Amino acid sequence: MRIVTIPFCRTDPVLDRAEDAGQTAGVSAPTAPKAPSFAEILRAAEAIAVHLPPTPAWSYPALDAVAGREVVVKHENTQPTGAFKVRGGIALAATMPADQLANGLVTASTGNHAQSIAYAARLADTTATIVVPTSAPTAKVDAVRLLGATVVTFGPTMTEAVAHARQLAAERGMSYVDPGNTPAIIAGHATVYVELFRQRPDLEAVYVPIGSGSGAAGACLVRDELAPHCLVVGVQSSAAPAAYRSWASRRAEAAPCQTRHSGLATGHSFDLPQSVLAAGLASFVLVGDDAIDRAVGLLAHKAHTLSEGAGAAALAGLLHDDARPARCAVVCTGGNASDDDLAALQPRPLPAD
Ligand SMILES: Cc1ncc(COP(=O)(O)O)c(C=O)c1O
Repeated sequence: MRIVTIPFCRTDPVLDRAEDAGQTAGVSAPTAPKAPSFAEILRAAEAIAVHLPPTPAWSYPALDAVAGREVVVKHENTQPTGAFKVRGGIALAATMPADQLANGLVTASTGNHAQSIAYAARLADTTATIVVPTSAPTAKVDAVRLLGATVVTFGPTMTEAVAHARQLAAERGMSYVDPGNTPAIIAGHATVYVELFRQRPDLEAVYVPIGSGSGAAGACLVRDELAPHCLVVGVQSSAAPAAYRSWASRRAEAAPCQTRHSGLATGHSFDLPQSVLAAGLASFVLVGDDAIDRAVGLLAHKAHTLSEGAGAAALAGLLHDDARPARCAVVCTGGNASDDDLAALQPRPLPAD
């Protein structure tokens, strides 16, 4: 594994350039937050287990044949909101002081983070306000509303939506939730890997898609405790490589954000996840959006799995990685396939008989 000890540093004030995507962009928590401890991650796992059963981790002969080795698929697409992010919201609500929780949660997002906060608020019997830009896809906004959250449409892009969410928090005393830099959310996302390394302690590498990096940071923190031999490999779209560039340079970098795959659409890096990824990731693979589309198709046809693009990115990264070891896992982080994801599925040829 490549271990890097250079500390991550922010040297230029990178502002939000992400146009969306489940990542509320350009915001930092008021004080420098610290990565969750393993004890905090285990407590998050206990809180989550009250509401969610462990997700399956299966391998499929047809997919193994394509990859030329065993590929374990960790099925976060089976979560009730359709994505692993639901763990973050539940873990946050479980640790937030009761008075702050009672004041209600507010965030800005159009994606799986929004559904997570809405879901957790409903479980905790508090309110969620989600600020969405006018560009937000109707289906995702509807899903958030159906979970009982108040949706506020504001501004053309996430930049304006984030600013408005923070303003609402300040004006109305609600608790603003930063999706990438909040330790309790990272602890919640890390619980995917508590399950995975218990299900498959023999894994040699796990491939994790990266937007803000909160999920991959969780993977590294748990790997260090439960499976120190296992490599964690980050995967990002080459059409939105801010996290990759920041990881490679050890500085906060912005990058164009042009990916079609919303869960990966960040235009800047998030400090807290990057501080863990710097030493934690063995390597980082960039894949094109078309390769991600093909991976969506492979999961559908070879692993009976409906995935959104971000949820198939780990598989795309594994297939792109010539150094992949014999026993690997890919995290199918989400199944909220958009119309575009579905349209990209090639019709499956009918069997000869
Ligand atoms: C389905 C899915 N996969 C991956 C990611 C990226 O996760 P993270 O922001 O923790 O890097 C997201 C982010 O919203 C997502 O929704």
